[in-house]
Amino acid sequence: MPIIAPSMLSADFLNLGAEIDMINDSEADWFHLDVMDGQFVPNISYGMSIIAQMKKRAKKTFDVHLMIEQPERYLAEFKKAGADYLTVHHETGYHIHRTLTSIRALGMKAGLAINPHTPVEMVQDIIHDIDLLLVMSISPGFGGQQFLPLTFRKIREAKELITKAGSNTLIEIDGGVTLENATEIIAAGADVLVAGNTVFSSADPKATIKSLKQAGK
Ligand code: DX5
Ligand code: ZN
Repeated sequence: MPIIAPSMLSADFLNLGAEIDMINDSEADWFHLDVMDGQFVPNISYGMSIIAQMKKRAKKTFDVHLMIEQPERYLAEFKKAGADYLTVHHETGYHIHRTLTSIRALGMKAGLAINPHTPVEMVQDIIHDIDLLLVMSISPGFGGQQFLPLTFRKIREAKELITKAGSNTLIEIDGGVTLENATEIIAAGADVLVAGNTVFSSADPKATIKSLKQAGK
């Protein structure tokens, strides 16, 4: 069964405590937390102080997705805030290998995200340094966008690369995941589904999470 990671970007921030309780009580596995700096992406979200507060109430794994420039500046701070998985973007640095190594050295799982224009083969030589490969299925920055179909091929390529390397890197898909496309995304080889809009704008978020969890069965 896939790992389900609701994206809190689409949560109701005036009722954040209740939204966290809803995820705690649901079949979701992780909290997906999107950090945006207005530089790497054309949007600004929240940072470590909000994440640290959420951590006090949340009972599940924190999957922190950094959409910020020079993420290496803040690794220790996100560890302190409660990140279990910390994901940086391939497009942000000359020394991604060093950054991934630092994330692990701090006691977190290391994630690497690739934008739609970045080929999967770019991660081939460092696949053993990556616990989570986040394949963006939209251009990052906003929730509620349309899933890019080219992602299906990239998932299959990622799966093949990981299998060939004998690595246990998880493949995470982020952006435009719906109840309609979830089964096909899992069939292509994805392990983790992020879902913001699909979960939080549904009439019954817990039931939607349950349906996502059943995808691929
Ligand atoms: C966007 C973020 C996503 C976003 C997904 O850049 O990385 O995690 O919240 O939202 P949906 O599921 O609505 O496309
Ligand atoms: Zn994300």
